[in-house]
Amino acid sequence: MTSTTLRCAIVGTGDAARLHAEAILAHPAAELSAVTSLNLDVARAFAKTWGEPAVYDSLESLLAEAAPDVVLLCTPPATHADAALAAFAAGAHVICEKPPATSLVDVRRMEAAARAAGREFAVVFQQRSGTATQHVQQLLRSGAVGRPLVAQCNTLWYRPDAYFDVPWRGTWASEGAGTLLQHGIHQVDLLNYLAGPWAAASGRLWRLARDTETEDTATGTIQFASGLIAQVTSTVLAPRQSSAIRIDTELATIELEHLYGHGHANWRITPAPDVPEAVAAGWQLPEAEVPSGHTPILHGVLDALATGSALPDIATGASESFGLLTAMYQSAQDDGRLVRPDELTADNAATRSLRAEVTELRPEVTELRPDASQTTEIFG
Ligand SMILES: NC(=O)c1ccc[n+]([C@@H]2O[C@H](COP(=O)([O-])OP(=O)(O)OC[C@H]3O[C@@H](n4cnc5c(N)ncnc54)[C@H](O)[C@@H]3O)[C@@H](O)[C@H]2O)c1
Repeated sequence: MTSTTLRCAIVGTGDAARLHAEAILAHPAAELSAVTSLNLDVARAFAKTWGEPAVYDSLESLLAEAAPDVVLLCTPPATHADAALAAFAAGAHVICEKPPATSLVDVRRMEAAARAAGREFAVVFQQRSGTATQHVQQLLRSGAVGRPLVAQCNTLWYRPDAYFDVPWRGTWASEGAGTLLQHGIHQVDLLNYLAGPWAAASGRLWRLARDTETEDTATGTIQFASGLIAQVTSTVLAPRQSSAIRIDTELATIELEHLYGHGHANWRITPAPDVPEAVAAGWQLPEAEVPSGHTPILHGVLDALATGSALPDIATGASESFGLLTAMYQSAQDDGRLVRPDELTADNAATRSLRAEVTELRPEVTELRPDASQTTEIFG
């Protein structure tokens, strides 16, 4: 290791933390020096797998004794804001798992604390990473494919009842909100990254089948500053799972279909019938391919921190896309009206809590379902 080695600490050693450890260990200018988690046995087992970093019994002792350069927050969403503020106060940069917090006020507090401490605040929106995303964003923003007109943004995932047995899932207090915030965030954020900024949004929350406080399904509409109109669905009730974005522009249909990450094969660009072949040929994805994922986004952030350069835009702007989700939750509380960004001031209740009205459509007596705990590949 060189003298510029970034000492990294992971807080929370569950599922997401593995991807962070893998990326840190693969980065030439970073080392995993410390971890902490609520369950010390789990933290010790994690440490054994990932290069034997020191294990601490609290974030406070970790910050005081290990003095990390970078704190990576992999704990449940409601814990992120306070932990980030403590890390900034101790002089560390913060890389935070999605959702960055459970309210827009907290996301703004995290951004302000980073600025005040002169530290960086990165959020893991890993779906923004990868060569195809950058290419498509450039096609849309340069006007090469004409004006964007209509979009679909679908997060059709399957989470059985057993998924909600984990105590922090399914409640407003610990998760902040339901599937739109936990799962839909990836595609909604990606669509805004590709085609934003957003100008207004509406939303509706539904509980169709799961025994949760929060929504198991959300629907909504986003109006972008460009005039693009997008229909959004996020659900945990879709047996054939799919994450998808489709944007129809004046000259092309741009489609992405994947589940938890995408490479070039997941994207398709179809020209309108009257577009000359030579023009459409210029839209092809670049030959060199980097798929989306935790490693590319975390390496982009660690590269910037190691060299003192600005963070890549794939990891910044958390309050912009969190604001979009906040507008959808506020709309659900206000009978589905369109909500605009300038309404999201600090005195607006939706900026402090996403809790909103969920329309209950579950039958009173639910039938016995097959044992869904057999389902594999659950993430997010
Ligand atoms: N980017 C993605 O695709 C992705 C995928 C999965 C999870 N996540 C996010 O990662 C975060 C963690 O999710 P997960 O699935 O790994 O959860 P998990 O339950 O598997 O792990 C959470 C860990 O945090 C620990 N923990 C809880 N509260 C703590 C506290 N106050 N201090 C220290 N440790 C604490 C728990 O003991 C556990 O080890 C969530 O924000 C989740 O949304 C993101």
